[in-house]
Amino acid sequence: MQLFTNIQALEEAVAKYHKDGKTIGFVPTMGALHAGHCSLVKQAVEQNDVAGVSIFVNPTQFNNKEDLAKYPRTLDRDMALLETIGADFVFAPQPEDIYSDEEMNSTFQFDFGGLDQVMEGKYRPGHFNGVVQIVSKLFKYVQPTRAYFGEKDYQQLAIIHRMVKVMNIPVEIIDCPIVREQSGLALSSRNERLSADEKKIAVNISHILFESRQLTSSQSVQQVENWVIEQVNRVEGLTVEYYQIVDQQTLQPAQDWSNAIGCITVYCGPVRLIDNIKY
Ligand code: PAJ
Repeated sequence: MQLFTNIQALEEAVAKYHKDGKTIGFVPTMGALHAGHCSLVKQAVEQNDVAGVSIFVNPTQFNNKEDLAKYPRTLDRDMALLETIGADFVFAPQPEDIYSDEEMNSTFQFDFGGLDQVMEGKYRPGHFNGVVQIVSKLFKYVQPTRAYFGEKDYQQLAIIHRMVKVMNIPVEIIDCPIVREQSGLALSSRNERLSADEKKIAVNISHILFESRQLTSSQSVQQVENWVIEQVNRVEGLTVEYYQIVDQQTLQPAQDWSNAIGCITVYCGPVRLIDNIKY
């Protein structure tokens, strides 16, 4: 497995792969890798001649400096893990390699066609601009045939689909299902910041979401939305930031149960967790 920390070295390798007619599968990450990330990488390994992973904690998508500072950075462990699952290269640059000072203070503005007005976009202003900014740059360097994204970050996935369409980027986006712990808790790098007790509490989030599926035959979208919020807030140690049931494509409030997905953000102590469920 090769490690590139420098854009030029990466681009030279990519040019050679393309010259040799190889397909490239690409998984962008911020590191602190877990089985969720690995499921994406394994799929990239299976479906392509070459599989690459980027590890870059992207400063422009954090609107909270403390969150950025506390984000776990475990490059050596991540590299060892990727080696065992057959990745061919890792791209791990420094922020100054990627961004000019001007870009760092982000003047970048992407047209989201409304996808950024709801949920994460509403509560984390500027977040998705940062995501599009970094992913579009990574796509330019890696020129992947296929790129893999998790449904765990459902709104991000919808926005990436729009980005490649609007920017005309010739890459196939592959949607990958959420990987959960046996307990039901969606795997996340942020789980590392939960104490053992908080982890037990956080399990309730997925359980309540699963249970809410049973209600769809008798209750309206609004009723189930309210029910989930009430149930989660009732658990000591959990506070809902938002729960919205939306259309899977437009992310606008769902009118009925066809094609609906519920997206939740919950604070468990200081840790912000997200999850979602398709109805
Ligand atoms: P990160 O949070 O590291 O996630 C990298 C990829 O792994 C994303 O596509 C995410 O949806 C997926 N993922 C995380 N947890 C998962 C789980 N439990 N099951 C399935 N997939 C999971 O998302 C980002 O990084 C960044 O925003 C990035 C796209 C790299 C841009 O900086």
